Amino acid sequence: MRIDILTLFPEAVAASLKISILGRAEKKGLLDIRCTQIRDYTDNKQMQVDDYPYGGGWGCVMMAQPLKACLDAVCADAGPLRRRVIYLSPQGKTFDQAAARRLAADYDQLVLVCGHYEGVDERFIQQCVDEEISLGDFVLTGGEIAAMAVTDAVCRMIPGVLSDAECFTGESHWDGLLEYPQYTRPEVWEGLSVPEILRGGNDAQIARWRRKKMLERTMDKRPELFEKFVPDEADAAMIAEIRKDRSRLQLTQPVVCRAVRPEDREAVELLFRQGRNYLRKHRVDQWSDNYPGWEDVQEDMARGEGFVMTHGEQVAAYFCLQLRDDPYYAALTDGKWRQDVPYGVIHRSVVGAEYRGTGMSDRMLEAAEELVRKAGRCDLRVDTHRHNEAMKALLKRRGFQYRGNILIDAGGHDPRRQAFEKVLK
Ligand SMILES: C[S@@+](CC[C@H](N)C(=O)[O-])C[C@H]1O[C@@H](n2cnc3c(N)ncnc32)[C@H](O)[C@@H]1O
Repeated sequence: MRIDILTLFPEAVAASLKISILGRAEKKGLLDIRCTQIRDYTDNKQMQVDDYPYGGGWGCVMMAQPLKACLDAVCADAGPLRRRVIYLSPQGKTFDQAAARRLAADYDQLVLVCGHYEGVDERFIQQCVDEEISLGDFVLTGGEIAAMAVTDAVCRMIPGVLSDAECFTGESHWDGLLEYPQYTRPEVWEGLSVPEILRGGNDAQIARWRRKKMLERTMDKRPELFEKFVPDEADAAMIAEIRKDRSRLQLTQPVVCRAVRPEDREAVELLFRQGRNYLRKHRVDQWSDNYPGWEDVQEDMARGEGFVMTHGEQVAAYFCLQLRDDPYYAALTDGKWRQDVPYGVIHRSVVGAEYRGTGMSDRMLEAAEELVRKAGRCDLRVDTHRHNEAMKALLKRRGFQYRGNILIDAGGHDPRRQAFEKVLK
């Protein structure tokens, strides 16, 4: 495959495409990637490539003449090949894996024209361009990054560039699904283990697990892609199985709520780290780097307010249940509590990463409600960040009602919190 990139910045583009897998493939003669300076083809002394737009307006437009002369030169040099001239443009069809497959299969030469400034003279596009490709619905300064993306995606499908065709046929977007999760050493990291099946060495079982994960993650991460996916009989059976698995509670051992103990330190600190990662990933500006920490748990423990949820031997969740008035809850900035009675407040609640989606969060709130009742109280309160959608969904499901906002001392983070209340029967 020959790729010609017509650009005002040939050195920069070449530097990124002549390395790693593509660089090695070029050395083996499988690819021929050339970056050509458009400016070398101007017919004016100043080597000017752009000029003011007719009709006025900002910026400059690249002139048709140097682009056409540059295009003619690379076509003449390449000779008669199955060629496609592509202009990288925010107005083109959005690039995807199907387009990369088509370009890799149908052509021997791609000429990728990179615009700059305000774009290129429309008459060049009309006369010389076969197809316009966009990297997405946003505007870049120039077409170079888009040209590099197209080159990379197309070239890795050229036979011999990757060690095996399976390297790309098993990847995301090949058949409308996302790839299964990948793991490497160590076997346990941050308390999270590599799934046992991947360590067992049974190829058939691994292949089945992977296919199921591909279906699951496409369903979860890209529902719009999943809707378009047409499953065969085996995939349809797996999809039915996934739906059944999900409706079934997976807590197979007894779930117990007990007071936190000093020996729970490692497990609770891990829960906090997992909680912080989760919040960061979901852009919730809630827990800081140091809060909550073991010192907070020690204070909870001293007051008899710290609790863990265990599943068998494993510590699966932590929460603090405060059975005393909380100064931050004294007044809502824009609402009113339903009852003016002694209440309980949940703080620092977190469920371990592997227990998400198992119903453990519900069990934790049930346990907190029970502790409040046992203390002779009938009102449970909790606050959460306005962007913590998972927590808000859980509270809604558990019958909590939004009462207004409170302001807390958040150590440099957003101090606003939405306050919820549940009146206990
Ligand atoms: C600032 S842009 C010009 C945008 C143009 N004035 C418009 O509004 O359609 C300059 C050049 O960047 C490239 N470019 C910008 N956004 C792109 C995208 N989303 N995909 C591919 N190329 C893009 C094009 O080659 C374009 O000529």
